[in-house]
Amino acid sequence: MLVLKFMKPRYALIYLFALIFTAFAVFNSVAQYNAAKRSSADILNSTAYFIGITLDQALKRTGLDEELFLDIVKIQPWEEIAFIALYNKDGKILLHSSKRLVGETVDDPDIAKSLENAGPVSSYTDLETGEMVYIMDIPVHIHSLSPSIHLLRIALHKYSAENALRHAKIHAITAVIVMGFLWMLAFAYYRYSKRIDEFQRKEVEKKHFTMLGEMAAVLAHEIRSPLSAIKGFAQFINEKNRDMSNEEGLRVIIDESQRLESLTDDLLTYSHTGKVNTEQFSLTELMQEVERLFTAGSGSVTIRKSIRLQNEMILSDKEKIRHILINILQNAVDSIERDGLVEINAYEKDDIIYISVKDSGKGMDKEALKNAMNPFFTTKARGTGLGLAIVYNFARAIHGSVHIESEENTGTMVLLSFERILK
Ligand SMILES: Nc1ncnc2c1ncn2[C@@H]1O[C@H](COP(=O)(O)OP(=O)(O)O)[C@@H](O)[C@H]1O
Ligand SMILES: [Mg+2]
Repeated sequence: MLVLKFMKPRYALIYLFALIFTAFAVFNSVAQYNAAKRSSADILNSTAYFIGITLDQALKRTGLDEELFLDIVKIQPWEEIAFIALYNKDGKILLHSSKRLVGETVDDPDIAKSLENAGPVSSYTDLETGEMVYIMDIPVHIHSLSPSIHLLRIALHKYSAENALRHAKIHAITAVIVMGFLWMLAFAYYRYSKRIDEFQRKEVEKKHFTMLGEMAAVLAHEIRSPLSAIKGFAQFINEKNRDMSNEEGLRVIIDESQRLESLTDDLLTYSHTGKVNTEQFSLTELMQEVERLFTAGSGSVTIRKSIRLQNEMILSDKEKIRHILINILQNAVDSIERDGLVEINAYEKDDIIYISVKDSGKGMDKEALKNAMNPFFTTKARGTGLGLAIVYNFARAIHGSVHIESEENTGTMVLLSFERILK
């Protein structure tokens, strides 16, 4: 049922119907099996009773004829009969379907017990052959004899009833196995189609981002040269002309040009993700370098760092990791309005490096968290929205991944993981 929650409604409905239908089929076969179990005892009982009545009638008609039971067994199509016998109250066999036993006396306390009952008594007993048979003891009156009370015993093989039971059991088990198998198949198909969907979605996304990246690169490139000319002239005029009335306007031109420059830088970085340059370097040193960039200018923000690596030397793309760390730390520092704490933790497990950056900043709402890594998503007045998009792309390029957890007004935790030795 849990799975249904995550399915598209259309599929969920089909699966729900299939589930109800198959559950019903399984329930039905199990119920049939239980009914067969109950009726197998009933069948034996009524068969024995029917034979008993017939024998009683025959005895009344013909009296004690030694051949009677043998003839009955031969003539009647009662395959289930194991034996039939007539005992007197002392256990002496007066009639038996196996003629050689006539005249013998059996020491069976059940005979006296059954004779005390007015009606038939049924039980199960083991034969000398080891087979378990169903027994019905019926007290009968033979008026030509004295005393007239005798015990008619009918022993039935259980296999015909057991056969029906076995069939019902096989039927029930087969139904359960087939339904189980069908469900496994359906589930495997569902997983497979979901994976295909996911794959196609990622392919489309990849194409989309590649196109966007190419466009961005062209634009950034075109903007860069005129932009540096504008900025350069504004700076030149500002320095040469000490005319105070122009100063504020020139400052705006310079500031905005700088902002555009960092945007074009980000755009170019973003679009040149693909190429990877591996080198061996000390991750500890790199982290110290990056931390130093922030401790210089982040005033009221305290940065705490803990590095627990078995081997600080790693083989990966140093510049990409530097970029990733700078972008994540910049966001962490940006998120803190007044005083706050940024904790950096680096550790290693099974040749995978984990670096977490946790801040006590303002956090993100659900919508922001969902979109944080999308290019151009920003909630900052002067943000480019490319920082985390670059982090995401770079992390992928070094066979790593980024995971973000955030809570509004509490803080954010970004976890980066990547291979220690990039293959
Ligand atoms: N540590 C953080 N705390 C709170 N919000 C964050 C954090 N990191 C990222 N964000 C949110 O994700 C958005 C996108 O971040 P990013 O891609 O780096 O672009 P930018 O920093 O230019 O806005 C940010 O504008 C901000 O809303
Ligand atoms: Mg950023």
